[in-house]
Amino acid sequence: MKMIPDRIKKEILSYGADNIVAIIGEYVPLRKSSRSYTACCPFHKEKTPSFTVDPGRQTWRCFGACSEGGDVAKFLMKIDGISFPAALEILARKGGISIPNDGYKEESERRNMLNVLRRAQQFYHNSLLQNQNGAIAYVGSRMTDAMVRQFGIGFAPLGGKTLVEYLDKERFPLDVAEKAGLIKKEDAGGYRDIFRGRVMFPIRDKTGYIIAFAGRTISATKSRYKYINSPETPLFRKSATLFGLDGAIEAMKLKGEVYVVEGYIDLMQMWAAGINNVVATCGTAFTREHAAILKHYVRRLNLMFDGDDAGRKAHQKAILLAVKEEMKATVFIFPDGQDPDSFYKNGGKTENLVTMSGFDFLKQSGIEMNATMQNLHRLERLENGVAYMARSIPAVARLLAKRGNLGELFSQEFLPGIEEIIIHHGGAR
Ligand code: UTP
Ligand code: MN
Repeated sequence: MKMIPDRIKKEILSYGADNIVAIIGEYVPLRKSSRSYTACCPFHKEKTPSFTVDPGRQTWRCFGACSEGGDVAKFLMKIDGISFPAALEILARKGGISIPNDGYKEESERRNMLNVLRRAQQFYHNSLLQNQNGAIAYVGSRMTDAMVRQFGIGFAPLGGKTLVEYLDKERFPLDVAEKAGLIKKEDAGGYRDIFRGRVMFPIRDKTGYIIAFAGRTISATKSRYKYINSPETPLFRKSATLFGLDGAIEAMKLKGEVYVVEGYIDLMQMWAAGINNVVATCGTAFTREHAAILKHYVRRLNLMFDGDDAGRKAHQKAILLAVKEEMKATVFIFPDGQDPDSFYKNGGKTENLVTMSGFDFLKQSGIEMNATMQNLHRLERLENGVAYMARSIPAVARLLAKRGNLGELFSQEFLPGIEEIIIHHGGAR
């Protein structure tokens, strides 16, 4: 079992506390009664409910025979018969929180990497302000000065060793910079820059620390790749990172929904148009982990991927992930050949875009509606998806109690049973 650093432990427990009703509701059919939720106690036999969950106090308690209680971790330990670290791991998975391989040493290594990344961002930003390699002409054609300042945009000069030389001069340990994904070893020994001749977009974690970069080439011909990302590092996993998350959290909570776009500049252009509840994937497809992260803040994904074939496929996949995470999905369709960048830059208004519900989008894309998708549709229309059913339909609660995991409901084994129950209960609303 891994040692979990205190910082992460706190984050996991606070996620569990904030979601105590939903998490316990996966095991026990909770009913709302004034300020708390009640059910028959899962830990002893009884006919009248004496088990309560109090979302205000973020605790549960059985006032009957067991007269026990505690936080959400204690509940998981008891109901699954597992240890505290194992309960934390389950909560972390639910919350999309990653547990590093850690210890004290990794904590200080982490700080060193964050330091060198921040220093690199300053270096790139200054290189842009100094108009190295004439970068300002390109950057100025894509974004305003205000956007450059707000997002800390920079430029990695051509040459191939400019960052290495700068960090060396500043006496930064180069092996840390290598580990942070900024430079790499040369065959001949020594180091060279990973980013060369590229506009640099700092990628931050949800608290605003820079954990990686994306770089866009400024010359169409010189590079094979239009965009490259930092390699995967102990700080950066593409499949669990969302560009713009740190700046979007407040607005997401306020609006209850989030726009998901493909590109860095798409996102920046939307900020310029006054839309702050927006995140972008970082050079990868939208993943279940991305969905799980966003679920902390919102109930709806507004998908704004490009209007090409790849974009359509991405929409389809993201819709299914949204439903699996019990979120709603709406697709926003851009005029041919446009993306959020070009649309908003030219004064476009969100309300003028054609939108489609997730289900309608799947249907019109000619996807064959197999039983799974029909079923997902029914679930999507239920107010809180499966969790809602678990609270109100005893048969679903029993199935869940057996498996203890919402995801299992979507497995082939369970779908037919669930489908029957839904039909029996007249489906949604
Ligand atoms: P696009 O090609 O649509 O990029 O790819 P864009 O944002 O519209 O780029 P501009 O406007 O030409 O600058 C969408 C996203 O896919 C990833 C990037 O994350 C990009 O924002 N991508 C694209 C890569 O990772 N590598 C590439 O070579 C191209
Ligand atoms: Mn674009």
